[in-house]
Amino acid sequence: MMEHRIIKGFLMGVVVFFGSCYYDNEEDLYPPTDCMTENMSYQSDVEPIISNNCYVCHSANTNNGDVTLEGYDEIINYVNSGQLMGAINHDPGFSPMPQNAPKLDDCSISKIDSWIADGAPNN
Ligand code: HEC
Repeated sequence: MMEHRIIKGFLMGVVVFFGSCYYDNEEDLYPPTDCMTENMSYQSDVEPIISNNCYVCHSANTNNGDVTLEGYDEIINYVNSGQLMGAINHDPGFSPMPQNAPKLDDCSISKIDSWIADGAPNN
């Protein structure tokens, strides 16, 4: 009798354990859909993404490949030439960015995309 209870408890533990694992995996596969992409601001939405992921190589000081993305007046040139989205989206004909690192997450890319669709305002 005692053994039965122990086994039952163990099995329930297994179910809970795998249940939570499965849940975690599902979150990875289907990222949260609460990605706000409306009315994006250069200052508070776009610049922080570029700063976190790109300034290590493309600040005014680092300037890798002679590419500076620091500041609106600089990044707007790469927006207008199509190089920014080409590089971020890993489109053929562009160097995939960030270099030697995984692609930006979908939400970050959507935010930048939406900002450009709004005319890439200096807001
Ligand atoms: C580890 C350094 C490094 C990081 C991080 C990095 N870049 Fe670059 N990037 C380079 C180098 C070096 C070049 C020039 C050589 C080349 O094009 O591959 C370059 C070139 C570029 C170009 C011109 C590409 C073209 O095809 O014309 C763009 C645009 C660019 N980077 C954007 C970005 C953006 C946006 C990020 C962040 C999401 C980023 N980079 C992160 C090193 C980096």
